[in-house]
Amino acid sequence: MHNKTVLITGATSGIGFETAKTLAEKGAKVIGVGSRESSCLRAKNKLKKKNILENIEFISCDFSEKNNILKLRDRLITNYSNIDVLINNAGVILLKKSTNSNGIEKTIFINYLSHFLLTRLLLDNNKLQNSRIINVSSIAYEKAEIEFENLNLSTYHWMKAYRQSKLALILFTKILANKLNEKNITVNSIHPGLIGTNLLSKNGWISPFLNILLKLFGKSTKTGAKGLIYLATSDDIKQLTGKYFEGVNITKLLNHADDMKSAKKLWDISSKLCGLNTDLLID
Ligand SMILES: NC(=O)c1ccc[n+]([C@@H]2O[C@H](COP(=O)([O-])OP(=O)(O)OC[C@H]3O[C@@H](n4cnc5c(N)ncnc54)[C@H](OP(=O)(O)O)[C@@H]3O)[C@@H](O)[C@H]2O)c1
Repeated sequence: MHNKTVLITGATSGIGFETAKTLAEKGAKVIGVGSRESSCLRAKNKLKKKNILENIEFISCDFSEKNNILKLRDRLITNYSNIDVLINNAGVILLKKSTNSNGIEKTIFINYLSHFLLTRLLLDNNKLQNSRIINVSSIAYEKAEIEFENLNLSTYHWMKAYRQSKLALILFTKILANKLNEKNITVNSIHPGLIGTNLLSKNGWISPFLNILLKLFGKSTKTGAKGLIYLATSDDIKQLTGKYFEGVNITKLLNHADDMKSAKKLWDISSKLCGLNTDLLID
């Protein structure tokens, strides 16, 4: 991975942290994003080896607000010539509904729309040439449905919101792969497995208890990172695009997630919500 630049969101904890660490160890220049200065500092302090520290820069950016994504874009455009691997990994489960300053429900914004926006801004600025894009979804997509006219979920349930956001990432992968066909940019999605992480940590006093449960049933973050590292580095899947993986295995999607009509509908709604044209500038 020498001479490769990797941008990974949600790099301060769990699967993202493990992936960032391993890719830096393999010689990649890693830009790891976390939501706060304090979590970025904590992640940095956990890295002891000099060769890893030299290869990682942590940037704080709260993905719940559109303006923060625009600022991140500006910073990336100024400082990096190209991003060879983009791993859209940051994610949350929010037991209670909350909205950002634009009135958009935070699960759908953090898990999906912010990554939709960031990816499109990087593409429009030609920062993803010959790149691999990896969208970290979840098997939770299986029971999901997209409420196209009601992405904010007027009747909120955390499971419904999380599932919807993960299905959205898969539909995004499908249509983006289609649009980038013949551009030498691949895009795939992945379920990393049930992994013991801090995924439930944004839920106040109850968070530590919920995370203990996840850690009790989940596998190690090393196991969770395997599929992401494979998609980021393996020559075997260099040309492969528009696929869904469970760990390192390509897996057939259920029909509702393999539907171009839904993917197109979601693309148009997402573009509008993010204030983007429906066409890619590199079309
Ligand atoms: N764990 C599982 O069993 C499992 C299963 C399927 C899919 N996944 C997916 O795997 C991905 C990684 O999650 P994880 O399990 O490793 O959980 P985690 O340990 O909680 O890591 C989540 C990461 O997302 C970042 N993040 C959360 N809110 C953010 C925000 N508002 N702005 C920017 N970054 C934010 C966190 O950064 P800070 O710490 O800096 O806030 C953290 O680095 C998620 O997309 C999750 O849906 C996990």
